[in-house]
Amino acid sequence: MKRKKLVVGNWKLHGSLLENQRLLNRLKQELPALSGVDTAVCLPFVYLHQAQTVLQDSGIGWGAQNVSQFTEGAFTSCISAKMVAEFGCTYTIIGHSERRALKLESNQVATKRLLNALHAGLTPIFCVGETLDERDGHMAELIVRNQMLNVVYGLDDEAFALAKKFNMVIAYEPVWAIGTGEHATPEQAQRMHAFIRMMVAERDREFAEHIRIVYGGSMAPHNAHSLLSMPDIDGGLIGRAALVAEDFIAICQTANQCLAQKTAALEPSPPAFSQ
Ligand code: 13P
Repeated sequence: MKRKKLVVGNWKLHGSLLENQRLLNRLKQELPALSGVDTAVCLPFVYLHQAQTVLQDSGIGWGAQNVSQFTEGAFTSCISAKMVAEFGCTYTIIGHSERRALKLESNQVATKRLLNALHAGLTPIFCVGETLDERDGHMAELIVRNQMLNVVYGLDDEAFALAKKFNMVIAYEPVWAIGTGEHATPEQAQRMHAFIRMMVAERDREFAEHIRIVYGGSMAPHNAHSLLSMPDIDGGLIGRAALVAEDFIAICQTANQCLAQKTAALEPSPPAFSQ
């Protein structure tokens, strides 16, 4: 199955109006030429309008880093999926481990946020991943399975149909690889991505073939090719390297080439010349 790669920058708690303008302008110069990869940036809420203004019609998407589990009401400081959608967002990250680690987000809360995102017409990028202790304790698959259960079985038919309609994305982000400079090996990541795809197939085989499962955790220009060449790694969720225009562009270029290589490999070879 040929899936178009997706590379998303997660800017986390970084940026200023001036820095963003420079970075977004640079991305706008380079990324639209890459037709074989979808690209996007997820910025702090307060910069969504800026992203919308700069990136409108560029082909580069933008999104939020979270949305509230509530839709409306007396919830000071919360920002709803519907509000975010008004700023032209395509994506929102949900359940990032930095949110889970602060004990702000259980699997149940993450699922509520996911549902709100889907009902607002956003494409959720739902994050899963194990800590180092969990990996060392041979529990990585169990943990990821638990996080995925809500997505696979916790959504009713209507919500699952929305997940398909809005092309829900799963991000496998091993916690030990985030911001450490130590990425999962391509084989480790591939194994987990195939496992996640298999879980989606338990609910819907066809969607499992289409859903994009992206990798996050110290992806950088020097390791992007080996990771993105794996059959079940459909892109990247990039933290630190997304803040450096040249690095993010290089990763997007690599993803773009990966699709071209895959396409060439899938094309039947021309018939042997016979006299
Ligand atoms: P780094 O690329 O900095 O490891 O961050 C990954 C991440 O958390 C993306 O959501």
